[in-house]
Amino acid sequence: MRPPQLPALGTLPQLPHAVLQVLMPDDFAAWRHLRDEVISGLAHPDMYVREADEAAFFARNAPPAGQGIGVFLDNELLAYAMAGMPGADDADNLGAVIGLPRDSHGCVSHMASCMVRQPWRGLQLQALLLKLRFALAMAYQRPLCLAMVSLHNHSSRHNLLSQGMWIAWTGVIDGLRRHVLQIDLLGRQRWDLQDSRLIATDDFEQLCAAAASGYAGVAEVLDGERRLLRYARRLPDAAAQVEVPLPAIHGAGPR
Ligand SMILES: CC(C)(COP(=O)(O)OP(=O)(O)OC[C@H]1O[C@@H](n2cnc3c(N)ncnc32)[C@H](O)[C@@H]1OP(=O)(O)O)[C@@H](O)C(=O)NCCC(=O)NCCS
Repeated sequence: MRPPQLPALGTLPQLPHAVLQVLMPDDFAAWRHLRDEVISGLAHPDMYVREADEAAFFARNAPPAGQGIGVFLDNELLAYAMAGMPGADDADNLGAVIGLPRDSHGCVSHMASCMVRQPWRGLQLQALLLKLRFALAMAYQRPLCLAMVSLHNHSSRHNLLSQGMWIAWTGVIDGLRRHVLQIDLLGRQRWDLQDSRLIATDDFEQLCAAAASGYAGVAEVLDGERRLLRYARRLPDAAAQVEVPLPAIHGAGPR
């Protein structure tokens, strides 16, 4: 049986007749059909490379290990997004893959996949589904959200950056050139925008080197036809700063 609709998510202003529902095992066929359609229409084959085992991927991002959210219109799936909660010791925990400190791996959630069928693009569905997955990540106490994206996937990277994620790492995962974008929902990241540089989105070596040398990709910049990314130097997280003790309150009894 399908669980109840997610609270307060029954309708979308941009699609008032659509409903949001948790993806259940019964939705697997519709989910796979949507993926077949979207993947066959990609502008570049690297934008999304299908997981080797679709059923295992679906299960990894379904309860209890995660959640998939589907947008349905007249019982037809028109978009979905998935959030996975990898084990701290899993080899494919993206925190491990990009070399985050070991003690952070248990806080990682994967913004695993999001697809919108062509006729329903441009309605901010990826942005909405990302916000919902951030809420899920908090509910699972996994505030360190990581998302992998192809260097060719400009719209997805644009949408992830717009929601406050930043490019933490660029490199090769399973033979594919990928960014990993990150956000700590507890809000501890900071950067020095005075110390920033622009890098072309297709300059793989520079993108890798910038992240490896302590810079984060925080925004995209269009220079005529050229598409660039702004990298700013990361500062120590705010939580790592020395806390200023609160001033003592003298003689302030209850009023
Ligand atoms: C990526 C995807 C989910 C986004 O769907 P969507 O929510 O409908 O978003 P759109 O494609 O309409 O893009 C919306 C935003 O991206 C921007 N955008 C679109 N193409 C872009 C491009 N080539 N470069 C930069 N930004 C772009 C739009 O201007 C818009 O920005 P705005 O909201 O600031 O105005 C959808 O395109 C899709 O399913 N793609 C194929 C599967 C895929 O790549 N999934 C993501 C894997 S990481």
